[in-house]
Amino acid sequence: MCGIVGYVGPRDAYPIIITGLKRQEYRGYDSTGVALINDTGLHVFKKKGKVAELEQSLLGKPVNGNIGIGHTRWATHGEPSDVNAHPHQSNNGKLAMIHNGIIENYAQLKSELTKKGYSFKSETDTEVLLNFIEDIQKNTQSPLEEAVRIALKRVSGAYVILLLDQDNPDTIIAARKGSPLVIGIGKGEHFLGSDATPMLEYTKEVVYVNDYEIAIIKAGELILKNLGNERQMPYISSLDLELAAIEKGGFDHFMLKEIYEQPSTIYDCLRGRLDAEKGTITMKGIQDNIEALINAPRYIIIACGTSWHAALEAEYIIEELCRIPVEVEYASEFRYRNPIVNKGDVIIAISQSGETADTLVAIEKAKEQGAFIFGIVNVVGSSISRASHAGAYTHAGPEIGVASTKAFTAQLTVLMMIALKIAKEKGTIEQSRYIELLVELENIPEKVDAILKNGDLLKPIAQKYKDAINALYLGRGYNFPIALEGALKLKEISYIHAEGYPAAEMKHGPIALVDTNLPVVFVATKDEYHAKIVSNIQEIKARKGKVIAIITEGDDIIPAMADDVFFVPPANEVVAPLLSVIPLQLLSYYIGVLKGCDVDKPRNLAKSVTVE
Ligand code: M6R
Repeated sequence: MCGIVGYVGPRDAYPIIITGLKRQEYRGYDSTGVALINDTGLHVFKKKGKVAELEQSLLGKPVNGNIGIGHTRWATHGEPSDVNAHPHQSNNGKLAMIHNGIIENYAQLKSELTKKGYSFKSETDTEVLLNFIEDIQKNTQSPLEEAVRIALKRVSGAYVILLLDQDNPDTIIAARKGSPLVIGIGKGEHFLGSDATPMLEYTKEVVYVNDYEIAIIKAGELILKNLGNERQMPYISSLDLELAAIEKGGFDHFMLKEIYEQPSTIYDCLRGRLDAEKGTITMKGIQDNIEALINAPRYIIIACGTSWHAALEAEYIIEELCRIPVEVEYASEFRYRNPIVNKGDVIIAISQSGETADTLVAIEKAKEQGAFIFGIVNVVGSSISRASHAGAYTHAGPEIGVASTKAFTAQLTVLMMIALKIAKEKGTIEQSRYIELLVELENIPEKVDAILKNGDLLKPIAQKYKDAINALYLGRGYNFPIALEGALKLKEISYIHAEGYPAAEMKHGPIALVDTNLPVVFVATKDEYHAKIVSNIQEIKARKGKVIAIITEGDDIIPAMADDVFFVPPANEVVAPLLSVIPLQLLSYYIGVLKGCDVDKPRNLAKSVTVE
């Protein structure tokens, strides 16, 4: 979703902003723009399309200057167009603003401003907020930061805003509520971003701005205030992120790189935590809260998208190993219905980005009801990690491809460790099974590596099915959430309509779709349901559907009936999803590439969904 970048200091702002915008392209966007102040005043350039197109169009333009802001817009109010792109300029032409989020009461503000004679070039809520700020500044004769503070007290919705003021050419005003804002602290310079990627080569010291804070940023000065106008002490965190981690490293796409990183990201996730030889799992967030976790009457897991699939997998695993009831909720539903959260219930929030607006608000809602929040997050320092009472990072490193791959397997890995740890502490798992599962988990990176070495075998399968219009993904038990995830990956990357279903549920409706053209992907690794899923495959074959099956090495039953098979190494059924999902990720990737899709940045999608 929208990305923001800013710079103030001795360097040329423009190249820093353009590079920062390119690094944040993964967030998803449809138009882009920059505003700079130099000797000749405030300059705004914006355009529908990619950052590279904007850059091309600005060759020879006055893009010099030591202060500037830049934006990638993911359309909410108004179609993607040059005029709706950010930055916007206020009616008097002196203020320029970029915004990530949604101003919910913009219509009312717009009507008030229209009555006062303000006009609007765009259809955006952003231009309304900007002119509202200008109007307050004019009426109160107050400095811009004060006008922003007054305006934001009247605004409902979510935002990160960055403002430039032609009359104060050394200052950026920034504010946030519900959308991420990182300020990098350099020597006599400051960098701003929706994440830390624009500032990686310049500084490792960052401040994660909190909700309801306003920052007044000059080259060598950073002042933070809350909306009550009280000074806040900036908390400086240290970045543990290298530039190489956000580059493609020789792969054609970030998605492929991230799929191939999984042996090491799963290993990194286990490292220092799981020791099968000693029979231990060390997770401070769990250990420090063990009583609350083992005595909880119920866990409620909230998440969106792929993270929701990880949550569903966790339901199967935690109920099986820990005998604690688990409910899995879409954060977007949980936040708006009237959910029952009982005393002692534990809320587990799962998010790669740690910025998903629905998940964040669902957390706040659960907190209001006194719940204990345990966050499972990938991005260190993100809003969800800070909003949680305790948690565990997934340590997958930056995930740039919009489709979640390595973050998903890292989420599963963390959830499996948590389930095993709690089961052990609660006494709901036998020692021999506990050790067996630790060993199984420890062996996963090697097995994922073996699958990836055979990844090319999926290319002819992708070629065969790339022109499908629909696809069905079926799985049972632990493989059901993986069927859902496989279908989501195909939809996102190749725009082929795909549905995931529990294999047995197929008879209650989706079987009507089966004909000679429908590919049906079975996630059918060896487990206690194997004989049942074999029957389901036969039901599809009896109706002449095309069957692609992900199966366990040594399976000699399914190859005899499926059209195409891909083998994964044997594994205990609890950890097998970490293997069976890998070929599904690759299959989607290869189909997407064959179809010429933009696999790293699929249309309409955003990496970090910071609006509801
Ligand atoms: O950052 P989060 O894990 O909270 O994001 C949740 C979803 O937006 C995300 O998983 C989305 O479904 C991905 N595009 C999946 O590939």
